[in-house]
Amino acid sequence: MATSGNGQVWALEQAADLLISCRYVIAMTGAGVSVESGIPPFRGPGGLWTKHGEPPLDGYQRFLADPQGYWQQRLTAPSEIVQALAQAQPNAGHYALVELERVGILRYLITQNIDNLHRAAGHQRVAEIHGNSQLLRCIGCSRRFVKEAIAIALEALPPRCPACAGIIKSDTVHFGEPIPQDVLEICVRETREADCMLVAGTSAVVYPAASFPQMIQEQGGDIIEVNLDDTPLTPLADCSVRGRFGEILPTLVELVRTKLTA
Ligand code: APR
Repeated sequence: MATSGNGQVWALEQAADLLISCRYVIAMTGAGVSVESGIPPFRGPGGLWTKHGEPPLDGYQRFLADPQGYWQQRLTAPSEIVQALAQAQPNAGHYALVELERVGILRYLITQNIDNLHRAAGHQRVAEIHGNSQLLRCIGCSRRFVKEAIAIALEALPPRCPACAGIIKSDTVHFGEPIPQDVLEICVRETREADCMLVAGTSAVVYPAASFPQMIQEQGGDIIEVNLDDTPLTPLADCSVRGRFGEILPTLVELVRTKLTA
């Protein structure tokens, strides 16, 4: 139920009322929430896949076939997104979500983003379903490491796990790679517990993340969408606010704060 003008005011009011009245609110975010932090989205105008075409769906199998080549590429020719990630800082929208967590309204945040910006903004309860670009993960024992903990040298690739000697890769989930079980279990647990989901900055077309709002709807919960454009989720949403994440979320949180102190 996309809106404009008075409809937009109504949708913001509706969203604020739902955030206050619902028992267990969680959120799910996508690339759109980091566009105002200088990281391009994947789809739509200015999207990485729009510019360069969708990546091969067997990225993980290609990694397994040649982990040394993967690391050489990564260390010698960092991609456009790796460069954007290096510069990015949280925007006002990220901090507004932290405020919703701080006042006890937002119970958990599921993000499809690998950019670490929710954590950098101070968010505590976060599940990164596609991994975190600042972390490394062993494909043998699934342990995660901060980059500094793993010796990475061009002459000794791929890097190895200090615990099990397994091959180390970025924690980010490649196309064709199974979602790490520990993160998936948290996402399903929190979605089952929730009666309201705030969905922001995602085209809602990539699974399993796109199934979580559907689960909320199937279990009788409410969906609040904040996005620049309509998505397949818009018809399912109880209210859908159009606009930039970094502008809409602070406005929404201010409205919640006003209603809570009224
Ligand atoms: N504020 C709010 N929404 C925005 C903004 C903004 N400033 N800029 C763009 N958007 C919206 C777009 O309209 C689009 O609907 O954000 C959405 C971004 O969609 P995608 O680029 O498809 O990103 P996402 O949904 O996160 O992609 C899911 O696909 O390629 C994989 O692993 C990758 O995690 C990613 C997954």
